Formats: sequence, C-alpha cells, structure tokens
Amino acid sequence: SGLITLDPGYKNTGSTESAITFLDGEEGKLMYRGYPIEQLAEKSSFVEVMYLLLEGELPNETELARWKKTLNEYNFVHDRVGKILNAFPSEAHPMGVLATLTSALTAFNPKAVDPSKDADMYHAAARLIAKFDILAAWTYRKKYDLPLIEPSNDLGYVGNFYQMMFKKDDSFEVNQTIVDALDKLFILHADHEQNCSASAVRLVGSSHTGLFSSISAGISALWGPLHGGANQAVIEMLEMIKNDGGGMQKWIDKAKDKDDNFRLMGFGHRVYKNMDPRARIIKKAADDVLGQLGIEDEVLDLARTLEEVALKDEYFIERKLYPNVDFYSGIIYRALGIPKEMFTVMFALGRLPGWIAQWKEMRQTNQPIGRPRQIYTGHTLRDYVEMSDR
Ligand code: CMC
Repeated sequence: SGLITLDPGYKNTGSTESAITFLDGEEGKLMYRGYPIEQLAEKSSFVEVMYLLLEGELPNETELARWKKTLNEYNFVHDRVGKILNAFPSEAHPMGVLATLTSALTAFNPKAVDPSKDADMYHAAARLIAKFDILAAWTYRKKYDLPLIEPSNDLGYVGNFYQMMFKKDDSFEVNQTIVDALDKLFILHADHEQNCSASAVRLVGSSHTGLFSSISAGISALWGPLHGGANQAVIEMLEMIKNDGGGMQKWIDKAKDKDDNFRLMGFGHRVYKNMDPRARIIKKAADDVLGQLGIEDEVLDLARTLEEVALKDEYFIERKLYPNVDFYSGIIYRALGIPKEMFTVMFALGRLPGWIAQWKEMRQTNQPIGRPRQIYTGHTLRDYVEMSDR
C-alpha cells in the first residue's frame, strides 16, 4: 500500500527491465539485441531475426541450420484445428479467428512449457512459430472460401506462408520479389519492446498462463486500430479520402478538431517523437516494391501528399506527430495482393517472435504477477436498498 501514483496508459511507468529491444523515441532509433533495425532489414532474414530475439545472439551456421530444421519438424497443424476454423462464418475478421486458433493450439499441445529449461523453451517457441504461419494463412483461405494448402518444407518460412495464402492451382509460382518484401516487413515488425500487445502477453503470462494462451491475448491487443489494427485503418482512411474527392485539407482539419473523433491513422506514436525508423524503411520499400512489380497506386501518391501536408502543419509539428510503421505497410501489402482485413494478421506474424521473446524473458527473470493498483472514486459505505424501496 502507501501512496499510489496514477499513470493512466502507463505513459511514464516502466514495467520491466529488458535486454531485447532498445528504442530511442527522440532520436528515432531502434535496435534488436543491439543491432540497428536498418542493418537487420538490409542484411538479415526473418528466420535469423527470430533466433536473435529469442536466443540473444545471431546464430552461426550450425545454429541457424538447427533452428530451420526444428521449424520444419513442427510445420503442421492438427486436422481438428482445421475443423475449428471451418466452424467460423466467412465474415469473421481474420484477427479474431487467429486469436482463437492460437488459443486452441493449447488443447493440442497440453504439456506446459517450463521456461526455466532452455530446451523446452526453444522447442515451444519453434512449435508455435512453425504453426502460426499456417494458422495465419488459414484465416485468409477461410475468408475467401479457398481450400487449405498443405505446408511445404522446401520454400522457407516466408515462402511457405506465401504459398499457403495464395496458391490457387498448379500454375502458381513463388514470386521472389514478394517473398523478399514480406521478409523485410516481418523483420521490421518483429519486436517493439513494451508496446500494448507485448505488455498484454507479459501481463497474462505473469499469472503463469501458458505460452500459447498468452500469445493469443497479444493478438487481441494488437487487433485494435490504435495499435496494429492501424494498418487496415490507414488504407480505409486513404480510400475514403480518395473517394471523397474533397482534397486533403478537410481531413487534416478534422484530425486537428478536438470535437471530431477522426485521427490521422498511421500518425503519432507513444514513444517516437521523431520519424519512426521503420516507417522510413517501409516508405522506401513501398517505392521499390511497387516499382519492381510495375504497379501504380493512387493511394501511395495520396499517402505521400498527406505526409507532406501534415508534416508542415503547426498542429502536427507541435505534437511531434510523424508517420509510424503502419502508415506505409498497408500500401505494400495492397500491392502484393493482400486484402486489407489481412494486414493486421501480417503484423501479428511478424511480431510473434518478439512476443515469445518477451514472454520468455519475463518468466526466466521470475517477474512477479502483474497487478496494477487504482484510486477508488466510487460510493462510500452505504446499506443495501430493498427492491421495494428503490
Ligand atoms: N491524429 C491527430 N491527432 C493526434 C494523433 C493523430 N493520429 N495522434 C495523436 N494526436 C494528438 C492527440 O490528440 C493529443 O493532442 P492534445 O495534446 O492536443 O490532446 C496529442 O497528439 C498526443 O496524443 P496522445 O493521444 O496523448 O498520444 P498517445 O501516446 O496516448 O497515443 C497513439 C499514441 C499511437 C495511440 C496515437 O498517436 C494515435 O491514436 N495514432 C493513430 C493510430 C495509429 O496510427 N496507431 C499506430 C501506432 S504505431 C504502431 C502500433 O502500435 O501498431
């Protein structure tokens, strides 16, 4: 007890020490295990970054080969999880389906993970990661009433995911430009220290709830439009601005108007008070990918103009509101033929290793149960009122 300090939204409250991800919001810097995000995005691969986040070091050749082999060993999902998938209506949002299927994995892998045993943790992480891309692809197949595709061990993690999403018949070929773009996006999304979903994973896990259920909570936290759901909301906003035809200023003014709920989606961040370094890389990647695929997208032009206008506006300058990771990612996903309801699933797929690394660190450092306090503002003591007297 003693004095309780209120900090709604935990704006100034540190919840943990962590050795995974470093973020400097003033400078716009991000590092995983000390490696700058720019170098990882350019030189590394998503599978390698998973290992880095989980194990703390870049893998050598043997370690990487073993990691890939272990992922391949778990590259299947029980048929009955497919039956749970089938029970959903097609209108179900893929994020809700993903959270449910991830939680359902617990029932098929009932042995609790002992996080104090490194081998146990290694295999639990591999098991979940190897199955997660199947589940993610399934949410898409379900939405579009497509038959499920068997996972393949020949294409690598991202290639396999891409095939499971998009293969319609034997004429299907893996497009390396698309796989490379997805790989880079997943690296950029792989961890972001104590954000809302990572904190949800840690909080749920702090009561010693199992790994898969804790991750399912993270998926639900990510879904909201103020967090990962912003990538879908950005495209919806840009489409709305385009269809409205009324120009940009009207929307900027709406975003500034405190009596209007409209916000510029993909703008602002709790920690970055400078350009989100991931947004900078993704903006460039969007240019490259659209160029390579020969796609012209009015929405990309619109996004560029919106960014330009907003960054010159006093309101956004004063509040240090810059484009965040979600501002340009949806534009790439769209160019790759991924429907907007799937954008946040793509984010979840990228973020999964980070969530697991956060869960592992939380358990291995024996964090206490998360249990915030409150200041009570309700009634003082009063007597029960009989029904006849109300
Ligand atoms: N459009 C207009 N005004 C904004 C926006 C925006 N997108 N973001 C913040 N503001 C204003 C806000 O109204 C407040 O103004 P004032 O000081 O006059 O009251 C000021 O800027 C500070 O904002 P805040 O809401 O106190 O900041 P927060 O740290 O609580 O919220 C945020 C951060 C990301 C939720 C918020 O900026 C937001 O809603 N952005 C739009 C949604 C979005 O893009 N989310 C993705 C976040 S990044 C990746 C991820 O987490 O998935």
